[in-house]
Amino acid sequence: MKLVVTGASGFLGREVCLAALRRGHEVLALGGARAPTIPGVTQARAFDLCSEVALEALLLEEFPHAVVHCAALPTIETCLADPAQAQRLNTEVPKKLAQLCFHLGAKLVHLSTDTVFDGVAGNYQPTDQPAPLNLYGETKAAAEVEVLRYGREHAAVLRTSPISGNSVGGDRGLHERLFAAWKDGKAATLFTDEIRQPVEVSNLADVTIEICERTVLSGLFHWAGTEALSRHELGVRIARHFGLDADALVRPISRAEVPSAAARPRDLSLRLHPLAGKLRTPAQSFEEQLAQLRVPRGCENWYEKVTGRKVVRRLEKGIDY
Ligand SMILES: NC(=O)c1ccc[n+]([C@@H]2O[C@H](COP(=O)([O-])OP(=O)(O)OC[C@H]3O[C@@H](n4cnc5c(N)ncnc54)[C@H](OP(=O)(O)O)[C@@H]3O)[C@@H](O)[C@H]2O)c1
Repeated sequence: MKLVVTGASGFLGREVCLAALRRGHEVLALGGARAPTIPGVTQARAFDLCSEVALEALLLEEFPHAVVHCAALPTIETCLADPAQAQRLNTEVPKKLAQLCFHLGAKLVHLSTDTVFDGVAGNYQPTDQPAPLNLYGETKAAAEVEVLRYGREHAAVLRTSPISGNSVGGDRGLHERLFAAWKDGKAATLFTDEIRQPVEVSNLADVTIEICERTVLSGLFHWAGTEALSRHELGVRIARHFGLDADALVRPISRAEVPSAAARPRDLSLRLHPLAGKLRTPAQSFEEQLAQLRVPRGCENWYEKVTGRKVVRRLEKGIDY
């Protein structure tokens, strides 16, 4: 199958390209400002998806069987910093992609987010009504409607949760952000009553490709790990996994103690049914996700000093872990 992967210079997109190659597909990897460099990927370029004319020309020329759309402004902060670009990239681009994929008869897998929900109820099903609390969630929720409007038969919207795993820059995965604070001598203060359900990046990438391969899978789906945990529990389990002193490095706080927390979704846990029953790729426990984590680049000296453990690096998937 010939696949176009957008956001391939990003955290998830890179892993999607690697998963596609692993599963025997041909990949065109599109970055935004940066041309992706991914081991084994021979077709890669920087490409501004907001140029509709160029996007149309590219897809008509490439005529892919499927597009996995990972490019986005994927945080509340980046969306607030440039609301017009958030609207363009997070809503208009997926709409255009869905129209083009419909025209070509190509499958579209569009990445969405748990942040489309308000977090009041938790344990969300795909059929639950989005009620975003912030611009990021609003632009992504609007995209879901557009993608499914044009792609009811051809498109899959995949809502997912905070992504764990090792990133090339050592700064994108859940544990990598904690290590950055710890290395600077700061404990992480984490909510005991804010719930998230992390997913490991390569597991999620496999799922996106499996959905491309399974033509019958279209519509709105959820994918994450199997465990919904508080942010505090996540921090504690990450610290313990690395043999670090969780009591010293992870401080508990409740949402009631932080007035601004009311504007954040409380519980964004997701129900994986019905997708989990339809895929060969299994959902992973948090323990299975932890087993794949490495000490982030730049944190080796600090880590060796506080634990007395030696960090041994090895080259894996183009990253010198
Ligand atoms: N990360 C998470 O925890 C998380 C959680 C839930 C859902 N998601 C969803 O998962 C998807 C992937 O997220 P991610 O964390 O992998 O994002 P990321 O690492 O920030 O990557 C974003 C990608 O978008 C590209 N991009 C930005 N502007 C572009 C433009 N104008 N034209 C073309 N490409 C452009 C970037 O390219 P350059 O850097 O080269 O400019 C980069 O490759 C997103 O849809 C996000 O909403 C992520």
